[in-house]
Amino acid sequence: MTTPLLEATDIHRTFGHVQALRGANFSVMPNEIVALIGDNGAGKSTLVKILSGADRPDTGSIRVAGETMHFGSPYDAQQAGIATVFQDLALAPDLPPAENLFLGRELVRPGFAGRLGFLDRRAMRERAAEQFQRLGVHLKSDRVAIETLSGGQRQSVAIARAAMWAQRVIILDEPTAALGVVQTQRVLDLAKRVRDQGISVVLISHNMPQVLDVADRVQVLRLGQTVANLDASSASVDDLVREMTSGTAEEAA
Ligand SMILES: Nc1ncnc2c1ncn2[C@@H]1O[C@H](COP(=O)(O)OP(=O)(O)OP(=O)(O)O)[C@@H](O)[C@H]1O
Ligand SMILES: [Mg+2]
Repeated sequence: MTTPLLEATDIHRTFGHVQALRGANFSVMPNEIVALIGDNGAGKSTLVKILSGADRPDTGSIRVAGETMHFGSPYDAQQAGIATVFQDLALAPDLPPAENLFLGRELVRPGFAGRLGFLDRRAMRERAAEQFQRLGVHLKSDRVAIETLSGGQRQSVAIARAAMWAQRVIILDEPTAALGVVQTQRVLDLAKRVRDQGISVVLISHNMPQVLDVADRVQVLRLGQTVANLDASSASVDDLVREMTSGTAEEAA
């Protein structure tokens, strides 16, 4: 059997009296898009924060390519090859796309005689253009500030940035929630291209037809527990909704 790129086992996380996660399991295999679904409050964002190093589980384990990890920060997760695009994207609105790709990792040309260097904007623009080209992201101009781009273009820049620095997995938290039909399709196509380049994708979405269209596998959280792991090619929207909701009323009572 293939070893998962990223695997979480029996994760528990409590906030005060709220058991946000109480037995969540999750895995991502090489070359796949996995959707993580569940009703509001099911624990998706909590699990994503744990997988991306932004929060720590009370109990449970995380393995990357078979090796147990204890992420102390998102930086640790990135070092392990996992990058997350959170809903607010965390782009710098006043910088152009290329510089956003290098945010925090700017290329610097050495200065004379060991003096502080200059930002190598040309090298960043060239490497960014390669990355956009590779992923089929077409921006009207790569010199304008991010804030002048559309929501879909900004999402594409954020995904291209994650895919540039992640070796193994990118996690997308509701990447199309604020987008129109055409932009949504572009972002989903981009997710598929990222997968086809060898980086697996975790997709959080409330849009069930979209989940079935783009994902290879679907994992369902209900009230903090993983309740189903379905092959997207043989599941229906009804199946997904049933897994998300069945028994919820009694259990929550
Ligand atoms: N920092 C926190 N403090 C207290 N409670 C929290 C915290 N974070 C999450 N919770 C609670 O944990 C539960 C799971 O929340 P979470 O945000 O993970 O759900 P979700 O599946 O992402 O929901 P949505 O679809 O609405 O985004 C909720 O009951 C939420 O109120
Ligand atoms: Mg959430």
